[in-house]
Amino acid sequence: MQNELDKIRAEALAATTTASSIEEVEEIRIQYLGRKGALTQILRSLGNIPPEERSSVGKLSNRYKVEIETAIEEKRTSLSRTGSEELVRKQWIDVTLDAPAATTQERLGRIHPISQIQYEIEDILTSMGFEIHDGPEVETDYYNFEALNIPKHHPARDMQDTFWTEDGNLLRTHTSAIQVRAMEKVKPPFRVVGPGRVFRYESTDASHENTFYQVEGMMVDRDITVSHLIYVMKKLLQEIFHRDVAVRLRPGYFPFVEPGFELDIHCLICDGAGCSVCKQSGWVELLPCGLVHPNVLRMGGINPDEWSGFAFGLGLNRLAMMKYGINDIRHFLSGDIRFLKQF
Ligand code: PHE
Repeated sequence: MQNELDKIRAEALAATTTASSIEEVEEIRIQYLGRKGALTQILRSLGNIPPEERSSVGKLSNRYKVEIETAIEEKRTSLSRTGSEELVRKQWIDVTLDAPAATTQERLGRIHPISQIQYEIEDILTSMGFEIHDGPEVETDYYNFEALNIPKHHPARDMQDTFWTEDGNLLRTHTSAIQVRAMEKVKPPFRVVGPGRVFRYESTDASHENTFYQVEGMMVDRDITVSHLIYVMKKLLQEIFHRDVAVRLRPGYFPFVEPGFELDIHCLICDGAGCSVCKQSGWVELLPCGLVHPNVLRMGGINPDEWSGFAFGLGLNRLAMMKYGINDIRHFLSGDIRFLKQF
């Protein structure tokens, strides 16, 4: 028995010495000291040993057990120390080195002011139950004009000249095209909103661009009236400007609404006293809107005798200009870092 114990001890200690990883050490522990380990088995079977040998074998087994345990523990400590030393050596960084502060700052990006306004308006409108829809920037004549009650050769087409592709499609002139697409997907009652980039064949100046951004909204339900429209518009503007805004409606012509309006807001720059932004009138034209024309509903598959709705279009560039006091629309797409860094 003693020979067997000596053999176990020698093997276990030798294996521990040559082990090169913590996993290997753990295997050795299981092999000798685990529940079914060689030494554990002997300790368990002490009862079967003749009484005269029992005490000496027991003592020896326990001594070897402690010896092996200690060797394993030491090996484990030394292996984990070399492990972390190696890690430190491999992943060495000089924490005292100066960060290149200037370049880091220059690389910091910002969200474009138009996108900021767009996200804000999306939040406000979704909280009012509007669902966000999307559509392509290259549109068909049908979605951009025809389905919006602007037939071919109708003089109203001159209101929105644009860029045509050779295959008869066009760069969409307004996000109203998104509403037409939305009407094909949702059933009334519904509230949808379509934000996006739009294009017009336009000579540019401080307040005109050939590429700009809009958010168009549309609500269809039973018995929708102009008062619903005014209420939602006032609420929307209040949320955007974080204060009460006075509005007025003037008649406006858009083939897809009847009646159609231009909604003006009391100039927030001069509080109505008259300034260059409101051209001394005290009012700023901001929101074309109206009740959806029955022809448009009909073409969208909606029965106008049963349902009615309002629609509105918000020019995001104009809104951002009002909100941030920007004096030239061309800044937005100039890509000028000095302009963009201010937001
Ligand atoms: N789509 C119109 C435009 O871009 C704006 C508008 C939208 C007018 C909805 C009335 C209702 O000029």
